[in-house]
Amino acid sequence: MSGRIPDAFIEELLARSDIVEMIERRVPLKRAGSEFQACCPFHDEKTPSFTVSPKKQFYHCFGCGAHGSAIGFLMQYEGLEFLDAIEEMARSAGLEVPSSGSQQPRPDTGLYDILAACARFYSEELKSHPAAIEYLRGRGLSGEITRDFGIGYAPAGWDGVIKKLGTDATRLEQLKQAGMLSEGKSGSYDKFRDRIMFPIHDRRGRVIAFGGRALTDDGPKYLNSPETSLYHKSRELYGLYLARQRAGRLDSILVVEGYMDVVALAQFGFRNVVATSGTATTAIQVEILFRAADTVVFCFDGDKAGRKAAWRALQAAMPKLREGLQAKFMFLPDGEDPDSMVRKHGADEFAQQVDNARPLSEFFFQHFTNDIDLGSIDGRARLVEQAQPFIETIPEGVFRDMMTARLEALAQHRLQSQFQAGPTGTVAPGLGGKPVQKRTPMRTAMAHLVQNPALVEQLEGLDELDGLTNDDIQGIEIFTELVDFCAQRPNITTAQLIELWHGHPALPHLQKLAIWHLPGEDELQAREFIDAVNRIRLGWVEVLLSRVTNIIEQRQEYRALQQRQQDLKKRLDSHQS
Ligand code: UTP
Ligand code: MN
Repeated sequence: MSGRIPDAFIEELLARSDIVEMIERRVPLKRAGSEFQACCPFHDEKTPSFTVSPKKQFYHCFGCGAHGSAIGFLMQYEGLEFLDAIEEMARSAGLEVPSSGSQQPRPDTGLYDILAACARFYSEELKSHPAAIEYLRGRGLSGEITRDFGIGYAPAGWDGVIKKLGTDATRLEQLKQAGMLSEGKSGSYDKFRDRIMFPIHDRRGRVIAFGGRALTDDGPKYLNSPETSLYHKSRELYGLYLARQRAGRLDSILVVEGYMDVVALAQFGFRNVVATSGTATTAIQVEILFRAADTVVFCFDGDKAGRKAAWRALQAAMPKLREGLQAKFMFLPDGEDPDSMVRKHGADEFAQQVDNARPLSEFFFQHFTNDIDLGSIDGRARLVEQAQPFIETIPEGVFRDMMTARLEALAQHRLQSQFQAGPTGTVAPGLGGKPVQKRTPMRTAMAHLVQNPALVEQLEGLDELDGLTNDDIQGIEIFTELVDFCAQRPNITTAQLIELWHGHPALPHLQKLAIWHLPGEDELQAREFIDAVNRIRLGWVEVLLSRVTNIIEQRQEYRALQQRQQDLKKRLDSHQS
């Protein structure tokens, strides 16, 4: 179910790894009963609510709700993509990730070496080119920052990189695939010439591409690596690796447009800055940003293009605003960028401006109210019509409720309740405004099974539930699928189960159940589970019973009617004779 990696491998990988050991290496854990605890690495707290269960091979924070398997932890903590997390785990477990036959080939790992060698070459070249050093100095960069970011220089001429790295045919081909060459009539030549070179790192710190800035203002100012098997512009953020490396999990992250902005801000002590490299912010980038920090501040020019870019970032961010996350927007005066601002006004004032960034809600409503007249009914109707679809993209929760309330206040109109509440009956407001699921027998039975798949062996004869659909009993289809699944692998952990249901529409539901608090000894749990299943059965038997009762009642009614029919016929007959 997990796409390119076979399920069997994921199952094996999780079986061979220990989540406690893996987390312990990154976050010191303390034993607490049969589980382990720590202060949560994903939010600020003084008393530990982050819990790791060796039995379930699952972690869960009661404070911020973060939870998942070892794979999920690596993704969240290290900011890795799914495949990278799998690779990382496979490496420490001594397993080889199976190559996935017909699917897209895995990137050639030789390319990483080639790109790393190019970066080294450019760094070396910088030392012997005073004009380039002078340029960087002129832009206020210290040797330390230049080194931290691995900034280098691509010499003028056509074959610097080729001479250094690519004289034989295989090497040339690799350089081509790494995006380092251009093609002319008389063959390949260096793509980057006489430019300041900014290496772009992936989230594991490997060089995957370059941005090259011209030293003078004629010709294209920046030249970027093309898309390659390693570099997908829409998924990368310049500077993210370095920012995370210095700080682990960041409190907030600032998103700017240019390479130079990231580097200049670093020079002024801002190490939590990344750049989209001049493209619109994508949904994937937002996802990655929120994995790295709870607060994301987008910084744009104050001009029309900047506002348009900000609006696109807002659209990408709204669907990702889970509880506890926030996006903010900061607009710079016309003609300024973060680099020029911080130089002109200094670090303190810039920090102040970042602090004053506008919350998403403010930017959102102003966007509409700028050219809608709220004094008229028409205007207010237009506001609802335009704003409501955006608000609907926010995940259910307090923030969406607040946005809805604000829209209602501005429109002076209560909106359809279907827009405010979740699926009926599934969610009731709980303490602290967090949605809490009602404990129905169905959910209880599933929660036990998810948290302890071996319980399936306690079940006997579920025949009477066979073949039922959700129309008969809400949720029975997933339940039956879950029972069958567990019966085939009674020894798997919660973590394995969750990973193997990857991509299943019921997964979000099961994840919620995986973190339900089910206290008590094994024996009590088993009893609760059996009880819940028996309640489901009882519910079904009662449905059948009422159907049968109906039939019996109908039969009695039938008899009564028949009786009446005969009586009436008799009366009529007696009068006729
Ligand atoms: P900017 O022009 O704002 O770049 O473009 P900058 O970082 O401030 O550059 P300096 O200060 O003039 O040196 C923002 C980003 O847009 C992309 C680059 O990623 C750049 O960092 N860009 C810009 C290009 O790809 N090509 C260009 O010709 C210009
Ligand atoms: Mn600039």
